[in-house]
Amino acid sequence: MYGMVNRAVEEMVTSHFGNDTWLEIKRVAEVDTEVFVSLEAYPDDVTYRLVGAASEVLGLPSEQILEEFGQYWVLHTARDGYGSLLDAGGATLPEFMRNLPGLHARVALIFPNLKPPTFAVSDETPNSITVHYRSSRTGLQPMVFGLLKGVAARFQTKAAITRLQSYEDGADHDVYLMQW
Ligand code: HEM
Repeated sequence: MYGMVNRAVEEMVTSHFGNDTWLEIKRVAEVDTEVFVSLEAYPDDVTYRLVGAASEVLGLPSEQILEEFGQYWVLHTARDGYGSLLDAGGATLPEFMRNLPGLHARVALIFPNLKPPTFAVSDETPNSITVHYRSSRTGLQPMVFGLLKGVAARFQTKAAITRLQSYEDGADHDVYLMQW
């Protein structure tokens, strides 16, 4: 994934636990990159190893780290680095969710080698929406939970997110119900 992702993991860890903990995580992950370049693509394996090592060093389940990371991504990384792209996504939660399927197409203009997830939405009601997530990657479902929570928090909304079906249960893609 693009260096921006690994940098964000680094920022999230150092802001909560300090630089020494981050250096320990990199050592355990056997990642010796000094500085991640935001616009350079790194093997996905680097990101997965960093999350695995963070789980080991911090004594937290990797699912929890991925979920926290999803929220951090929306509320800090994307907001600070690509705020105008987020703003263009919509001024209300339902509008943002309706536009989510097109968001990474705009992101891909900045990151040409992006391997983005695919989102679709359906069954919208005044206080809920169904979100379909497809990816060429595995294991990032907890991050999607965190991302959706982060999007709700961006609009000062408390949302309940339920997974309706999953790759893990043999479905062909993941489906989440978001209610607010
Ligand atoms: C301006 C805002 C955003 C930017 C700049 C952005 C950018 C990126 C980048 C660079 C990646 C790494 C993919 C790669 O390197 O191939 C990524 C992955 C991902 N993004 Fe975004 N993103 C944004 C907002 C969102 C939002 C709002 C969501 C969902 C609510 C989301 C969901 C994901 C997921 C789930 C992945 C993991 C990749 C996968 O599942 O295969 N992103 N995004």
